[in-house]
Amino acid sequence: MCGIFGIVMATEQQLGGVLLDAGRRLAYRGYDSVGAATIDRTGRIDLRKDVGKIDAVNAQLHLDEMTGERGIVQLRWATFGAPSYDNAQPHFDSDGDLVGAHNGNIVNNVELRAEFIAQGMTVRGTNDGESCVHAVERYVDQGLAMTEAIRGAAHDLNGDYAFVIAAAGERGVMHAIKMGSGLVVGIGDGFTCVSSDLPSILPLTDRIIRIYDGEMVTLYPDRVEIRRVADGTAVARNAEPFTEGMDAAEKGGYPHFMLKEIHEQPKVATDLIHLLSASPHVDPFLDAIESARHVYFVGCGTSYHACLIGAGYFNRIAGIPAVAMLAPQFNETIARTLTPDDAIVFVSQSGETKDVLNAVNASRPTGARILGVLNVIGSALMHASDHYLPLTCGYEISVPATKTFLNQVLLFLYLADRLRRTGDAIDWNHVPGLIAETIAATDGPARAVAALLNPHPEMYYLGYGLTLGVAMEGALKLKEITYAHCEGMLSSEFKHGPLSAVHDGYPVLFVTAPEDATMMVNHVNEVTCRGGRAIAVAAEDALLRKNVSDYIIVPNAGQDVTVLLAVLPLQLISYHMSVTRGIDPDFPRNLSKTLTVD
Ligand code: M6R
Repeated sequence: MCGIFGIVMATEQQLGGVLLDAGRRLAYRGYDSVGAATIDRTGRIDLRKDVGKIDAVNAQLHLDEMTGERGIVQLRWATFGAPSYDNAQPHFDSDGDLVGAHNGNIVNNVELRAEFIAQGMTVRGTNDGESCVHAVERYVDQGLAMTEAIRGAAHDLNGDYAFVIAAAGERGVMHAIKMGSGLVVGIGDGFTCVSSDLPSILPLTDRIIRIYDGEMVTLYPDRVEIRRVADGTAVARNAEPFTEGMDAAEKGGYPHFMLKEIHEQPKVATDLIHLLSASPHVDPFLDAIESARHVYFVGCGTSYHACLIGAGYFNRIAGIPAVAMLAPQFNETIARTLTPDDAIVFVSQSGETKDVLNAVNASRPTGARILGVLNVIGSALMHASDHYLPLTCGYEISVPATKTFLNQVLLFLYLADRLRRTGDAIDWNHVPGLIAETIAATDGPARAVAALLNPHPEMYYLGYGLTLGVAMEGALKLKEITYAHCEGMLSSEFKHGPLSAVHDGYPVLFVTAPEDATMMVNHVNEVTCRGGRAIAVAAEDALLRKNVSDYIIVPNAGQDVTVLLAVLPLQLISYHMSVTRGIDPDFPRNLSKTLTVD
């Protein structure tokens, strides 16, 4: 996730302040690097950019003092391509006649860069935003007008993205295109602007035009023209007033970031699938796992739960035994026995969790392969890894991890599927749709179960096999944002002690994958025959249904994908119960998003 903003003014002026303010309001979308470009009435482009957060870069480069008629600012959340000056956006074309910036992923970036270099273009970095600019340059050099050149570029660029671009010689004009990433237009008095998101536009104007996928827009100081990318035909759409407040805009209309991030899951899953299917970094990552003597998956909290599920996937699908372990336990239990033939996959949303970094530091001297799975590019874990894969979730603001957990599990399933030794390969095209379908179908039932659980100060979530990690994650989410006690554990272990907690009406939630439903019926009955209230989260199963009081149905997408889907209603149960209890789920008491302490 990155943020882009572009503006076209009727007169030349000090634009730096506007760009800086817009950039600050998009900083939640990325802060690996920032850059601004202004174009004055003579067509001179002033481009200033660097690695770092917006205020630090401004202190150094004085973005606020830039002047011009047209301006672009970009905040980068790096995926592939290290945060660096060359990879910071906006980018010039070869001759410095075009300047542009993007948001999203261009999955054929590696191939395109090779083509541009072979065609004699000046390619300065490895960032895919630069490829958007060169893709337009290629057609401008053939004599096409900007709008036609952008349509040609869209044909060549694969992925989900939006970009904004201006030509020095096209006074008073800027262009933008939406092909899967967010894009909104603002119409003001004496200017028009375009951005990835509303927070950067609303302080300037409340007259908004939404742009849809497959559309491009040309901005002038007093109007905009919208076209379909496919055939270049004009689209008539008027500006509408945006009547909700800024807070709603930052949360995309959702009352909390957590709910927004839950609903972002189909999109971040799509982004990750695209990235993994095109990334040259997947093979070396898999080679390190395949050739290892022992494989360990290591993390804390939510990331550890993803490790539990990942270890199950590797064992089941790829026939590779992997041991999931909590990071603080790793040093005592495993680290001393590591050899250069071992591989450890460290999993961390932030990439800065001290418990994880302690385990990395203990592993490093043994020569074992350090593999990273992380969301924050530029994090300590990224730098410490021999190979890493990003989660491509963008900024997760809410303290409870939701979309990053889903993508951690999805990434493990994708990798195991690539090494598959048994069963049918997964149809990845269907997975984002199943995620969307599950969120839509389970929100109502999750609300009802939240209401049912709300009066209880404690409860259990039980999983079996692959769903152990899902049950533990659901229980953690509930503890984290409702302050109720909820223990997640293996359903078959419940009879070995915790069963004594059960009494009339005591709630126990069972999460099961399709092949384990019959086994789960045994564990359900151990609870219900003692008066406990059993709630199932599972694909439809006639036998299981007869044995429980409440049932949240998730789509039956086979044993492995259903596990991934089962976490979605558990996120929703916690969210609704938290809100019912008057707790802010985004910022629960005592917790922090990034735990850089022992
Ligand atoms: O950044 P990390 O993934 O390393 O963080 C690990 C845990 O602190 C984290 O997953 C925590 O459990 C979540 N906030 C739970 O929602």
